[in-house]
This record gives sequence, structure tokens and C-alpha cells, in this order.
Amino acid sequence: MKTIHLGVFEVAGPQVGGTLSWPHPRSSSARFHDLEHWVHIAKVLDRGGFDFLFFADGYGYPSVNGDLPETAARGGINFPSLDPAVLIPALARETTGLGFVVTSSTGLDHPVQTARRFASLDHFTGGRVGWNIVTGASQNTIAELFGHTTMQAHDARYDQADEYLDLALRLWQDSWDDDAVRADAAAGVYAEREKLHRVEFSGEHFRSSGYFTVDPSPQRVPVLFQAGTSGRGRVYAARNAECVFVQGTTVAQTAANVADIRAQAAAQGRDPESIRIMVGLTVTVRPTHAEAEELRAEFDAMQTDETVATLYAGNTGIDLLALDPSRDLTQLLDRDDRGPVGQMGQSNIDRFLPKDGRPAPTVREILDDLKGKGTRGFQVWGDPVEVADQLEHLMDEVDLDGFLIEPIFDPADLEDVAELLVPELRRRGRMPAEPVAAATLRERLIGSEAYFRPRARAAESVQPVS
Ligand SMILES: Cc1cc2nc3c(=O)[nH]c(=O)nc-3n(C[C@H](O)[C@H](O)[C@H](O)COP(=O)(O)O)c2cc1C
Repeated sequence: MKTIHLGVFEVAGPQVGGTLSWPHPRSSSARFHDLEHWVHIAKVLDRGGFDFLFFADGYGYPSVNGDLPETAARGGINFPSLDPAVLIPALARETTGLGFVVTSSTGLDHPVQTARRFASLDHFTGGRVGWNIVTGASQNTIAELFGHTTMQAHDARYDQADEYLDLALRLWQDSWDDDAVRADAAAGVYAEREKLHRVEFSGEHFRSSGYFTVDPSPQRVPVLFQAGTSGRGRVYAARNAECVFVQGTTVAQTAANVADIRAQAAAQGRDPESIRIMVGLTVTVRPTHAEAEELRAEFDAMQTDETVATLYAGNTGIDLLALDPSRDLTQLLDRDDRGPVGQMGQSNIDRFLPKDGRPAPTVREILDDLKGKGTRGFQVWGDPVEVADQLEHLMDEVDLDGFLIEPIFDPADLEDVAELLVPELRRRGRMPAEPVAAATLRERLIGSEAYFRPRARAAESVQPVS
């Protein structure tokens, strides 16, 4: 029986999940500028035995027909958003064991910048940080915002992300020997020069020659997360990730994605069971079934076609409201002006295309299907026993390692999970009876030593800069 790991999905914005919930009286997520809001959430999770708090991030925003739609501004749908990385040290100071995972895309900053930022965060959190590596959503608005004239193609972004991580690993692992830092005041020696090494890296996308300026942090390498379940995304996950966020669509589809990631990891000589695979989960848990159902209905009543379409367009480049509602997505193939479609997030297109001879849903059915879902994965509601039953079922059917809780009404939903659901999971032996007293996020989540195991592949990429 597998232990259930719990993380929480947040954004430093009006609400998480690409759905509308901040105006509801139960929510105070519009307080996202307020440090106290986040400190409260972090403390609830730390006490509740959650493994980590995850912040999604990106520079992009929803765009319909090339511009920010009114629905996004009015509803606070994935807009605006603050930089969550700067929050982390403040939250670490207020907690003891909770990990912090932050997204950073491989498309914009140079790997040296990202490596330095995460090594610094690992120091300031005492080894409780993870990096969610994404090639990025909303690529069209990001390209525009950064003044890029072209948008890199989907699979090419993953090739670049492979190299990106290779260089980051070289910086974290190869520049400082373990015992390079002496910090010996009496001898007047901070670091021993002969234990510092130049990193020489010359790849197709990135070059670097020099010393990494951050001395080794408690984990040396942040725990490597990945989110993105397209075919190429799964290859990337199997090769690189210690923990993978998969998108929950149907149980069968998600189970197939999980099996594929584990099989590909095994084919690369990795222990497939060492990869922690977690799926997004929206939970409404209340003391009684009726109360949970009522709350869930209040959320459902707030959702509209426009909100759904705004989010979907931001993710895929497709404006569902501009399509014929009675036909499926293959109608796009008839159009000359496909723009960035197919080169942005692909998972959310693939899942609605005809498969194995089965007909695809119409645009109207897609809108109905996505209503209230946003970027959310599986959704469950009920009393603590009902919800725990559903979680156990998903764990076993999908071969998961845990869930990424996506709150609707924040922070009240998280308080409910901590107070009502966690005790039930503990009673069933699915969570440790006491919060794990682990020093680092890697030890807590993966159960391995604090340091990332160096990979042969990272060393192979050593090439002299010509
Ligand atoms: C749980 C989860 C979290 C994600 N967080 C982010 C994020 O913070 N920033 C981002 O740009 N994309 C995020 N994504 C989107 C994926 O990374 C996106 O699908 C990917 O960049 C495109 O790759 P794909 O075509 O392989 O899905 C997330 C996806 C999932 C399932």
C-alpha cells in the first residue's frame, strides 16, 4: 500500500485553477499580495503533514485573437500574477518541514540565472526547494512580451530544455567539491581554490565557461519536478524528473500516461518506482456529503463559457467560442489561419481529438466538459470517508504517488483538507501518523539522500568551448 504524498497547487494571483472563485465569500485568495495570507496557508500545510506548497508561474496570460480578453481581466483568470519565488524565504522561515516548489521555464532566463536562483533558495530554505521545469504555457503572449519575433516549436522547446538542465546540473554539481568550503575564520580561509572547478559547456542552445558563484546548498540540486504530459513531455519527464505532475483527464488516460512515464524511465535504467507521480485534485471535503455537495454547487454556478474559453485559448491558442459548436476540433484543420495552434500546450488539444476510431466531442461538449475544470485535474467531493475512498481508488487505479490539491476557495478548502481529510488518511495508514521529520524535500518526498545522484549524461555533455 503506497503512502499518499500531498502537495498544494497555488499561483501568486487572484485564484488558482483557471476557474472563477475569488469573489465567493468563502475565498480570500484576492489577498495574494499579502504575505500574511501565504504565511497562514504555509502554516496550515506544515502542521497538516503536507509535503510541499507548489507555485505555478509564467510570464504569459490568456490571449484571444491576439489580445487580453475582458473576461480574463474582470475575472482575474490567470491574470495578474506576482513572482512567487520571492515569497519562499519568508514562508520557509515560518515553517519547519514543508517543501516549496516553484515553476521556472526553460525558455527565457539563461540556465546560469536559474541555477543561481534555485541554489540560493535551497540555502535560504535549508534544502526544502524544488524546481518545476516547464517549457512554458501561453508561449504566444510570452514571445510578444519579450519582443521575440518567432515562437519556438513545441518539441524543439523540449530539446532545448534537455540542454538547459544539463548545464544547470553541471553548475550545481561540478563547480564545487563537497569540501571546498572551509569558512575557517582562524585560518582566514573561506573556500579552497584547488577545490573549485571551471565548468565548460558548449551546446546547441547554451554556452558557459566559468565558476558557479553559489557554494553547494543542502540539496545541491533542487528536487526536479516536471509538468507537461504531451508525448515529448513524457520523454522529458522519464529522463529528468524526480517528481512529475500529470494532468488528470480520465482515469484510463492518466493511468496510461503514468505507465508510459514509468516504462520509459525503466528503459533508461532508472528505477520507475523512484519517480513520484502526482495528479492535480480539486477536493471539496466537508463534515457531511450534503454540505460538500452544496458548496460544490455554489462553485459550479459561478462558471461560464467565457471563462472556459479564455483559459483554453491561453493554453492552446484556440478560441472555442469562434468555432462551430456542433463540430469537433478537426474543423481547425480546414482553416488557413491556424496561427500558433499545435505549437503551444498540446495535451489539451490531443485529448479532444478523435482517437482509436471513436468520435471526438463537439466544441459545445468540450465547453461543457471543461466548465469548472480550468487547469484542474480530478475533482472529488463528499464527507471525509467518501473522499478518502476516492483518493485510495485513484492511487491504486492510476498507480500514483500522491495528489496536488487545487483549492477552489482558498484557504478554507486547505483547512478542510488538513482538518478533515488528513486524519482519515492517517487512520487508514495512507499518510504517516506524524509529519515526517525529514531535513530536506528530497529526503521527505523521494526518500533518498539529500543530494541528487549525479547522472552520467550530465558529465557526457562536457565539451570544450571552441
Ligand atoms: C500540475 C501542472 C502544473 C503546471 N504548471 C505550469 C506552470 O507553472 N507554468 C507553465 O508555464 N506551465 C505549467 N503547466 C503546463 C505544462 O507545463 C504545459 O503543459 C507545458 O509547458 C507544455 O507542454 P506539454 O505540451 O507537454 O503539455 C503545468 C501543468 C500541470 C499539469
